[in-house]
Amino acid sequence: MTNKVNQSLIDMALVDRVQKTFASSYGHAPTHLVQAPGRVNLIGEHTDYNGGFVLPCAINYQTIVASTARKDNLIRIIAVDYGNQTDEFDLSQEIAFQHDRMWPNYIRGVVVCLLSRGWSFAGADLVVSGNIPQGAGLSSSAALGVAIGQTFKELYNLAINGVDIALNAQQAENDFVGCNSGIMDQMISVKGEQGRALMLDCRSLEAQSVAMPNNTAVVIVNSNKKRGLVDSEYNARRFQCEQSAAFFKVPALRDVTLEMFESKSAELDSVLVKRVRHVITENHRTQLAAELLRQGDLVKMGQLMAESHHSMRYDFEITVPEIDTLVEIIQSAIGDRGGVRMTGGGFGGCVVSLIPADLVSAVKDAVEENYEQQTGLEPSIYVCKASGGAGLIQGMSASPRL
Ligand code: GLA
Repeated sequence: MTNKVNQSLIDMALVDRVQKTFASSYGHAPTHLVQAPGRVNLIGEHTDYNGGFVLPCAINYQTIVASTARKDNLIRIIAVDYGNQTDEFDLSQEIAFQHDRMWPNYIRGVVVCLLSRGWSFAGADLVVSGNIPQGAGLSSSAALGVAIGQTFKELYNLAINGVDIALNAQQAENDFVGCNSGIMDQMISVKGEQGRALMLDCRSLEAQSVAMPNNTAVVIVNSNKKRGLVDSEYNARRFQCEQSAAFFKVPALRDVTLEMFESKSAELDSVLVKRVRHVITENHRTQLAAELLRQGDLVKMGQLMAESHHSMRYDFEITVPEIDTLVEIIQSAIGDRGGVRMTGGGFGGCVVSLIPADLVSAVKDAVEENYEQQTGLEPSIYVCKASGGAGLIQGMSASPRL
């Protein structure tokens, strides 16, 4: 069954813009409108590629793709967010990596991977836009990869399931774009549920949904610290984890128990000791967090989020001073009534806080009063709702209003 998403969680002005661009550029209305959401990870960082656990939720910020199938093999794309730049390629010829600009590669990669997995389809006219802040650690690229996969599923009635759309988008990032990301972002973009987080076992890819406690707000603050060297640092962390798993003679760090770690850590390189400690403790915290969230225990959840941030800061070493400052500012506004931590791959980007709804304005005020003054950077604040995963946009007639 096709997942359809409630319009109240979608920016209809954005959808309108995409439809109008489609109609004025291609001369007819799109037949399909698909959305795929970004995500925020509540806890479980750098655990996905170690076969471990994550607890993200999809957010009400999306990538939108308007489309129509073509009879020939051409794929034509208009990227609204890149000044209506275009890309065009032919499915019957080699689909090459573009060295002069990156955005087309996220789409080309998804198409290349779908074809290499044996899916067959003809061409399409596409218009793409979105409102997920880019480069902020909220998975705008995973949402794009998922939205494109979902679009071909809808256009050509492909019998591809959600997990395969996610795996395909991950493969496109790993093999075509060149970032060795794990599976969390694509899976939550496919499987997100309104009002719920998802506890994902990144080895079995089993997902359990966890209801957000009533009257709880998810507040994301973008540090607007430009993320430098993200891909290289990310890939370096991943390599260190693989080296450590080999040292323990296990397939992935998920298999290293605290006992194994304690008995052998003296023989391990001191940097790798810190990396492994982060992964083991973070997996433990994430499983516990799913339980606490179910029970609505924001106080204990807050403690776990603080421990997670501490572990990312000192053991995995992926935070930056601006992010640590932001976490401290928010933590003092929350006290012990909720939690805050960096979210996503690291080296800048966003922090996530999980708080009782009545604390939202206190958190906003604290950030507005202190962050810029202490760092010289202007923050962006998003009060988010846990949202549904990728699918057709419900109730759209797909007729443009010109
Ligand atoms: C990025 C990657 C994910 C995950 C996180 C860290 O978002 O794309 O796969 O590894 O970093 O938890």
